This record gives sequence, C-alpha cells and structure tokens, in this order.
Amino acid sequence: MCGIVGFTGAQSAAPILLEGLKKLEYRGYDSAGIAVMDGDTIQISKVTGRIANLCEKTGDGTKIKGSTGIGHTRWATHGAPTEENAHPHLSNDGKFAIVHNGIIENYISLREELIQDGYFFESETDTEVIVHLIEMYYNGNVREALIKATNRLRGSYALGVICTDEPGKIFAVRESSPLIVGVGVGENFFASDVTALVAYTRNAIYMDDGEYAELSKDSVKIFDCTGREVRKEVTRITWDVQAAEKGGYEHFMLKEIMEQPAAIKATIAPRIKDGKVVFDELDLTAADLKKIRKIVITACGSAYYAGCSGKYTIEGLCHIPVEVELASELRYRNPLIDAHTLLIVISQSGETADTIAAMKECKERGAKALAIVNVVGSTIAKLADYTVYTWAGPEIAVATTKGYTTQLAVLYMLSMLFADQLGRIDETDYKKRIRALQAMPRHIQQAIDMNPGIPRLAKKYHSSKSLFFIGRNTDYAAALEGALKMKEISYLHAEAYAAGELKHGTIALIEDHQPVIALCCNPAIMEKTLSNIVEVKARGAEVLALSFRDNQKVLSAADDFLFIPDEDALFASAIEIIPLQLLAYYVAKENGCDIDKPKNLAKSVTVE
Ligand code: G6P
Repeated sequence: MCGIVGFTGAQSAAPILLEGLKKLEYRGYDSAGIAVMDGDTIQISKVTGRIANLCEKTGDGTKIKGSTGIGHTRWATHGAPTEENAHPHLSNDGKFAIVHNGIIENYISLREELIQDGYFFESETDTEVIVHLIEMYYNGNVREALIKATNRLRGSYALGVICTDEPGKIFAVRESSPLIVGVGVGENFFASDVTALVAYTRNAIYMDDGEYAELSKDSVKIFDCTGREVRKEVTRITWDVQAAEKGGYEHFMLKEIMEQPAAIKATIAPRIKDGKVVFDELDLTAADLKKIRKIVITACGSAYYAGCSGKYTIEGLCHIPVEVELASELRYRNPLIDAHTLLIVISQSGETADTIAAMKECKERGAKALAIVNVVGSTIAKLADYTVYTWAGPEIAVATTKGYTTQLAVLYMLSMLFADQLGRIDETDYKKRIRALQAMPRHIQQAIDMNPGIPRLAKKYHSSKSLFFIGRNTDYAAALEGALKMKEISYLHAEAYAAGELKHGTIALIEDHQPVIALCCNPAIMEKTLSNIVEVKARGAEVLALSFRDNQKVLSAADDFLFIPDEDALFASAIEIIPLQLLAYYVAKENGCDIDKPKNLAKSVTVE
C-alpha cells in the first residue's frame, strides 16, 4: 500500500523524508517521490522502482535544499508505475504539492469537471484531482481550501500537503487511511505508520477520520471537519521497529488476514454506484456478452480455487457454462476454445508463468481474455483484453489471503454485472445480492471476531498426521482453498474432498480421532453434508464443523466449531475461508513454521 511522510523543522528535510520512506518500503511500492519547500519554491524529485534510486538521484537528499517537505511511496492503482504517476503531484499554479494514500472513488467525474474548468492533468492518477480541487478552492486560507476540497471526495485518503504561501508548514488530512502525527522538539512529522517516525520521536498523535493537522516546527494543531480545533492525546510509542512494520502483528500473514475487511471494501465500494455494479474499466457490452457460449477460468494455486468458487456464482446467476482449468494443464491440452469463449484469467501477481502461457494459448484461438489481477502494470494485466484490478494492496506473505478474497469479490461482482446485462436476474434478487456484497466487509470482520477459540483448536489439531476437509458445492470450493492454506504454511497433510465422494475411497482412511473439517454453509445441500458428518463420526472421526452459529443440527453433530455470520450461499466462500485461514495460521504457529516464507514456496512463480 502507498505510504506518506511529512517533515517540518530546522534540519534539511530531504534526508529525513528518504529515511522515513525507507521504513515504509515493507508496505510494497513501485515508485517514490519527495517535494521539499525552500522559502517559497518547491522542488520535486520522483523515480520509478526503489527508494535507492531516489537516494541516488538526490545525493541522499543533499542536492535538495529546504526544511519542509512531504514524501510518498506509490503502489500503482490508477495508472502504471511511471514517474508522471508517482507522487507528489503539483497544482497547475505550482503553489501546492500533495501526496496521497488511498483511493478516490469519484475521481472520474471530478476529473471531467476540473478539465472543463480549465485545469490540466499530468498523470493518470485519481490523486491529481485533489491538488486541483485545492487550488480551485484556495482563497488565501489553506485549511479552508482543504476542507472544501475533501468535502468533494468519496473514498479513502491520508493526504499530505505543502503550500508556497505557508513556508515552514505541512498539512495533513485523514479519512479511512492511517495517519499519525509525530511530535518532536523543534520539529514535527506525519506518516502513514509509526515505523517512519520512531527514529525521530516516540510521541505520536493517532488522527481520526475527518481530522486535519497543521504542523510547523514548533506547533501541532488538529482540527475537525468543521474547522474547530480538537485536543488530542499524545501516545508514547513503545513498539520495537520490526513489530511496527507488521503493524504490531507477529506475521505479515496475520496482518493481511486482518486487512481483509478493508481490502474487500476497497475492491467492492467503488464498483457499486446507485445500487448497481459498475466496472468503469470494463468495456464489455450486452451484445458482446450475448455472443459468449462458455466461460473458461484459468489460474494456478489459490487463484484457481477462487475460480472454482466463481464457477458456482457465474453459472448460478448468469446461466453461462463455466469450465475451470489449471493453467499448467490448459496450456498443453489443445483446448476447445474459440471466439465465443470468454477467458477469465486470475492472478494476484500477474506474473505466474503457467497462467501467462495458458492465456496466450487461448488468445491465439480467438478467445477474449478478462484478467483479474492485483499488481498494476503486470504482464497478465497488459496482455489481457480487459483488466479488472483487485485493490488488495501489496501482499507480502507467500500464502495468499486478501489476494484470494478480493479475487472472489471481483468474480461475484462480475457475475452480477453479466446477469444484469443479460437480463437473467430479477430486480428483487439483484437488490438482495447488492446488499450482500455491501455487507461483505462487515461479515468478514464478524467472521474474524466470532472465532476467538481458534488458537485453542490449533493446539488440539496441530499434531495430527493429516486433516480432511469436506464440503459440497460452494462449501467444497472453499474447502479446497482451506486445505491448501493448511498444507502450505503448517506442512500438515491436508486434503479437500467433495463430501459425496467420501464413500468412494476416502472413508477407508477414517479411523479413531481422524480430524475432519466439515464445511456446512450452503443451506441447499447442508442435510447431505450432515449425513457425511454422521458417517465419519460413526467411524471414530473428530469433526470440526464450520457453519452458522444458530445451526442446531450441525452443533449437535460435531465436536468442535468454527462460525461465520449468515451469508448468501453464492458469495459464502469469501467468508468461510476466514476462519480456515486463521486455523491454518495458528496450526502453523504451533508447529513452529516460518509462516510468511514457507519452505520451497515462492510468492510469484515466474518459471514453469
Ligand atoms: C504461488 C503463491 C500462491 C498463489 C499462486 C498463484 O503458489 O504462493 O499464493 O495462489 O502462486 O499466483 P498468482 O500470483 O498467479 O495468483
């Protein structure tokens, strides 16, 4: 995710900004920049790639004069990772420079409005609208201009601003993106997280949504959104730096599990407008969709399992046949694919070698490719005919969590879009499912909060020889990913089976105390899975059931439980996986595994 820093004091700003940005590198980024004010001139320096490039360009900051400045690491969302798109961005009159962490959902309409008013844009970013709005509303009072400009924004933002009319001052605003003010002696700071501050001060003010900060070297003032000054508590930071980089979590994986409500919100919220799913980036008309005879989904690893879940949703809502195929298989299979096939390619990294090869193979046969990708400007994103980004932010742990759930969110929204365009969903059903999509971030948070007993369950199950995951239909799709998470990070043998297949082999392996994790979250098929629970219990299995809290039948049949809130079955995999991710995490912890970097695995598999 992007990171911002700001400094004002007596020392030279650039070296301090660069040090702060280095501390934010762990968040992931693909370009960086700083803006420093010396008297009433602003000097900007930007690079693509690493902070080291920025250090080289600026002589470790020594080539840039001035003691007031802002800096940014960018993780590309709107527009490729280029110098033009890197922050800071300047207003047309050159008075303001800004840095931004977050996403502006209504930037397209604001951009059009500003262009009509004569402002010109130098980047493709959503951020640039903010600096022009500030210029438009500026009447000699920066705070007023900031309040007016941010009142126009929908989305999330932590903003840092400097203005040539206010030498020695830095301004910051927070809305749904982290922002912390560092209070020093004769110098003050802000940053996206405390890691960038602790080398200089351990006194921090955690800003709340809707608050504005105005900092000079000797004063810190915080205002609410009406412009009234608010008194804030100064907190003493006692964390060590390494813990702070993981946001206080022991592992990136746990941090990323916990980030899922926000990541799902960032992926879904900008794409629901006036009660409708809208993908501004997708130029697929109803006429195009009508020509599609089948959809083929291809991917590797968890992305493939996201596709397995998406098949149920797309077929269920759009009535288009869907095949899901491992990219490593599809690429060598002479597939029956033509111009009437829509290929959906799913990849967090956008660089997986087998997925790229399968995509090229299918495109050669005339299929159009729609890519669901997290990394902006990646190979798959570039090769695709249509690209939809999951806005999960950078994922650092090798085992994907928020990457996978945001892929599901996109698949669910695409199903809704296609069903609507093809006239295959009635209005009541559509409205109900829009509400379900909007509730998803909250439901994911509930699924985290409802299962405080997972560390205890991990102690019970961590020494098992193997774990069987069973489920039917959408539950089966989630079981596949649940078992993969378990084996990837805990090194336990874990396998998922369609519950109806137990009788055809696996049941021979059930003996006393064999753990079976049974997913029962699809009401249409729950009775059948319940029968399977009874069958394995009769053979001595220990059953850990995943279901709704009020599901008495399951509660009385199983030995242990994981819970999720009531969920639309077609969208349930994204919620079911949450307690399974946490279970895998705590089992791996019990087993002393290297959770963020499991042995033999890589985050991005760029070779065959
Ligand atoms: C690796 C990662 C998995 C990921 C898979 C596909 O195996 O460890 O987490 O699901 O690659 O990667 P992609 O970047 O294409 O989603």
